[in-house]
Amino acid sequence: MISKLCTGDNTFRFLAILMAGFIISLFKFNNVDAQQRSSQTFESQNIQQALNHAQNKLLQTLDEINYNPAKHPGHTNPETGEWDVDYLSRNEWTSGFFAGSLWYMYRLTGEDSWKELAKTWTEDLEPMTMATFDHDTGFRIFNSFGNGYKTLNKRSYYRTILKAANTLSKRFDPAIGAIKSWDWTGNYPVIIDNLMNLELLFWVAENSGNRSLYNIAKTHAETSLKHHMREDGSTYHVVDFDNNGDVYRKFTTQGAGPTSVWTRGQAWAIYGFTMIYRFTGEKKFLEAAEAASQYFIERLPSDFVPYYDFFEPYRSVQTKDASAAAIAASGFLELYQHTFNSLYFNTAVEILLSLSSSDYSTHQSSLSSILKKSTLHRGFGNVGTSYADYYYLEAIMRYKEVLEEEFPALNVENFLFLDQNYPNPFNNQTIIYYSLEQSGETKLSVYDMTGRHVQTLVNGQMPAGSFVVPFDGSGLSSGVYIYRLRNNGTVLTRKMTLIQ
Ligand code: GLY
Repeated sequence: MISKLCTGDNTFRFLAILMAGFIISLFKFNNVDAQQRSSQTFESQNIQQALNHAQNKLLQTLDEINYNPAKHPGHTNPETGEWDVDYLSRNEWTSGFFAGSLWYMYRLTGEDSWKELAKTWTEDLEPMTMATFDHDTGFRIFNSFGNGYKTLNKRSYYRTILKAANTLSKRFDPAIGAIKSWDWTGNYPVIIDNLMNLELLFWVAENSGNRSLYNIAKTHAETSLKHHMREDGSTYHVVDFDNNGDVYRKFTTQGAGPTSVWTRGQAWAIYGFTMIYRFTGEKKFLEAAEAASQYFIERLPSDFVPYYDFFEPYRSVQTKDASAAAIAASGFLELYQHTFNSLYFNTAVEILLSLSSSDYSTHQSSLSSILKKSTLHRGFGNVGTSYADYYYLEAIMRYKEVLEEEFPALNVENFLFLDQNYPNPFNNQTIIYYSLEQSGETKLSVYDMTGRHVQTLVNGQMPAGSFVVPFDGSGLSSGVYIYRLRNNGTVLTRKMTLIQ
């Protein structure tokens, strides 16, 4: 397959990168004969649609809430398809996601209007720095002010984040070794979701040198690792402790049954333990993330979007949870960056493809969210959520980062260039990237070290621009091969190593 990578403004640059990645994923997964796929239709149209669609839905949401920054969408109403008016308060655990999505849209498009909106919806959440009634200060403040600070480096946001971390740390009890999640059930309930709120503490610890916040976050992570995770990599949703730190009950409030595996909880574990490994560097957290991922991936249905609980006997009455898929996709993309295990990258891409299709994207529906078919909890499915949307956009951004890291030459314009294939060495499948300064007769061929011709990948008139071409070495013996690009009489050559 030969796909033109568009160049030009930010949107097109982004689309070009996405397109390359989708091509890679299709190539790796479906073993498609690259040369037989028609170029630039499926990939470019669908990806462009995903980005345009997300912008349209964010604008639709802003209209719906009358541009009132005190309204922070949580989930859609199953009857109306609009954001549920009873869940717009800044007190909701979901209030930071809409502001976070606005930050991501600014980063994805570079358009200042998104930045201004992101600032406005973020700043309304300032009072939440003092919220002591649950553990979700991380979700509220780090997705809004945290993203804002990382984007603009605004010092006042940094102060806000410090305040919030201090507030959250007050819910930590050293006798139990964990932050208390909720005040409304059990004695000292700690939920798997709580891992996500540790990012606020770890980040502040790293940026301010506050060792005590680091110790709180790490101790909580260790407690969760010990008590939430099962031998098979699955997780409990809620662990309730007595006042001495002994466990007396494990259960779920959102999953299908008391001993079941709530899918979004499993996604929080994937994302959470991966993030904790980023801050601690401790292998046990990476192993936990991988075990949780293994469990999740093995149970994904063919469209890569899980039912809201992994517990089989309840399958027939279950709804899908697009939010779990989006959270996991984003987590897998970070996990891939720590492990370079392509299973995580490929699964993330498959999830993104599925979520971008009309099965899960709302582009053919009037629903106010970007994605549909999330489940809040047992018996409450088929809604849009601001968190599914947020992690979907985050996954797209992380995906872009991975590609930029692995194909640093992707945006080389107006330059005759033949990049080192990736991966290299490779086992059968690899990608060759090249760009042409001028249109003209172009040939890209592979030879063995004796000069024997192996395969022609491109042969014909090509426009100026950037291109990716997959190469499949199946059936060839291990060894070094040469690939040669000829354009208007100029020849560029590189070597690649096939390992069978
Ligand atoms: N943290 C609440 C939920 O995932 O539903």
